[in-house]
Amino acid sequence: MTTTPEAIGSSWTRVEGEDKLRGRARYTADIPVEGMAHGALVTATITRGRITGIDTAETLASPGVIGVVDHRTAPRLNPEAGSPFFGPDGQFLLLQNDEIEHGGWPVALVVAETPEQARAGAERLRVSYVEQPHDIAFSAGHPSLRPALTSFGPDANKGDLDAELARSAVTVEERYFTPPESACAMEPHAATVWLEDGKIRAFDTNQAPFGTAQMLSVLFGRPLTDVRVEAEQLGGGFGGKTGVGPQLILATMAALVFQRPVRVALTREEVFLTTSARAATEQHVRLGADADGRLRAIGHEAAFELSVKAEYIENCVEIAKVLYAADAIRTRINVVPLHILPPNSLRAPGTAPGSFALESAMDELAERLRIDPLDLRRRNEPEVGPVSGHPFTSRNFLRCVEEGARTFGWAGRDHRSRRRREGHLLIGTGMAGTSFLTTAFPSSATITAEPDGTFTVAIAAMDIGTGARTALTAISADVLHVDRAKIRLRIGDSALGPAWGAGGSLGTTSWSWAISSAAKELLAQLESKPPLPVSVTSDTTTEIFSLPPRERHAYSAIFAEVAVDPATGEVRARRLVGRFAVGRVVNPLMVRSQLVGGMIMGLSMALHEQVVRDEVTGRQVNADFAGYHFAANADVPYIDADVVDDHEPDNPLGLKGPGEIGTVAVAAAVANAVWHATGKRQRRLPITLDRVI
Ligand code: MOS
Repeated sequence: MTTTPEAIGSSWTRVEGEDKLRGRARYTADIPVEGMAHGALVTATITRGRITGIDTAETLASPGVIGVVDHRTAPRLNPEAGSPFFGPDGQFLLLQNDEIEHGGWPVALVVAETPEQARAGAERLRVSYVEQPHDIAFSAGHPSLRPALTSFGPDANKGDLDAELARSAVTVEERYFTPPESACAMEPHAATVWLEDGKIRAFDTNQAPFGTAQMLSVLFGRPLTDVRVEAEQLGGGFGGKTGVGPQLILATMAALVFQRPVRVALTREEVFLTTSARAATEQHVRLGADADGRLRAIGHEAAFELSVKAEYIENCVEIAKVLYAADAIRTRINVVPLHILPPNSLRAPGTAPGSFALESAMDELAERLRIDPLDLRRRNEPEVGPVSGHPFTSRNFLRCVEEGARTFGWAGRDHRSRRRREGHLLIGTGMAGTSFLTTAFPSSATITAEPDGTFTVAIAAMDIGTGARTALTAISADVLHVDRAKIRLRIGDSALGPAWGAGGSLGTTSWSWAISSAAKELLAQLESKPPLPVSVTSDTTTEIFSLPPRERHAYSAIFAEVAVDPATGEVRARRLVGRFAVGRVVNPLMVRSQLVGGMIMGLSMALHEQVVRDEVTGRQVNADFAGYHFAANADVPYIDADVVDDHEPDNPLGLKGPGEIGTVAVAAAVANAVWHATGKRQRRLPITLDRVI
């Protein structure tokens, strides 16, 4: 065995960095396919109702148009297709009937020789409708409110919440509201689909090539071996590219109907209207504590909006089961089905809106107790899982809190609001924290020892732009005990076998497990000096499913300083400090980049982002980057993001996921800082000017 310097822990720049700088890196819509035609969507202009007619005459006469696919001509899809977690999902059943159940629903695809001709043809399609009344008005008081059908964990029912609230010296009972948000990845969704020997081949923008191929095969009723989905580079995902997007379904239909390669690249507006969004939430938080700050009661009930088409869970209440000890903990999660774009995962699903509610309420409790918000955390640190009773694997929450506070300069803060001024500006500071579930999902990797002394490592992982290629190259080098120049990594291809996707912050934990398991077996086989090449394929299913029940989480503490203009209500973040316990760090440069990026998304959630729907038409009115605001360079202050020493004992390489946790807790830290500056609580996101004055 050769001794090589450890690759894990090295701050390498991205292995594909030079290709990206030189413009050689290919995103899905950059990859040409011989004889390719182009598809343009036609989306519903009503929110609910039926299609009564589609007049294709003008479109078919339009230059370059090859044809139109609509509900009368589209291939039939399997209505049972859905997600493994949430069951059959109507949002995938495009062009199957004349029903419209949300605005922007695709009603046809126009296929032409060029993208411009397809778009021109799409504009000439005459679709007539009969409208029916729609309901898009979300609130927890809606008559259709019902329990969420699926859940990753049962409701918490520990102790007697009402009794503990009654015994508490101080209580907080408040409602918090978060709006729908859009993932807004830089690269719009695109797919190119062609048929090869009767099999479906695709380049597609998605976060999980294997899962996407699997879904596509079920939808189109074909064996998985007849479907192959690939990608090279992805320009972000953030949850908006999980699963099978409309671009892939429509391009597949068109390739089958016209027997030609077809590319469908969504416009920015279509990304907003036809992919997915984070659900709006309304959360009711009840906290009760003794006068010294010991928590007796945590009640966290969340309601979120759902579409009438599909089940999904925006699991806001999970951290209430993990973060603090309390005698009684009760969580509930309810949904309101409406005529809206089906919600799905987006940037720390559940946890991001959930932490805004819980950690804002904790700050209100500290205020009413007249204690330091840090002391409130110190007094309620649990020994074991507060609801489960299971041991924690590695819990470094307070370490994040203490190190963050020291760096930020929290000591000596006057905890009363509206005490600091600089000229006409009101200055405030605030903090919040979170846990973030970590685990791994079964995956398989194939490693081949080549005759020339190199190793080919193949796994159906995806690099969504965050550096998975670089991380997996380093990990492969370490587990094979060779220099990284000896590693040839292949990812982004469903044909490489079952693998978890780039989601849930669990890509690297899952893929690295499969790679290290294959490496171990391969190195054992190589000891007998067999003739090369030799290949080993791993499967981590058994190992992962036999993990003991334990509380496995990453943690963070976020500190924010804001300046508020009391005349205009403008909030500017001045400083953000984040400390994170995210397990062993594979690449410090990229992990910091990921955490900083996450914190910017959290700041964006706090101050800017919201999907706005017109209640009369039911349509999203800000489906573009002019109307959908997010933090841009001038909004982002100095950000200090760093990790504390941490190691996950239930992962072979000590890893947790740093992917999404950066986003979480920032909104509460900013909202708490705005209260500290102004004396006005912010229980509704985003914190726009009108809500501050
Ligand atoms: Mo992430 S929202 O799990 O892609």
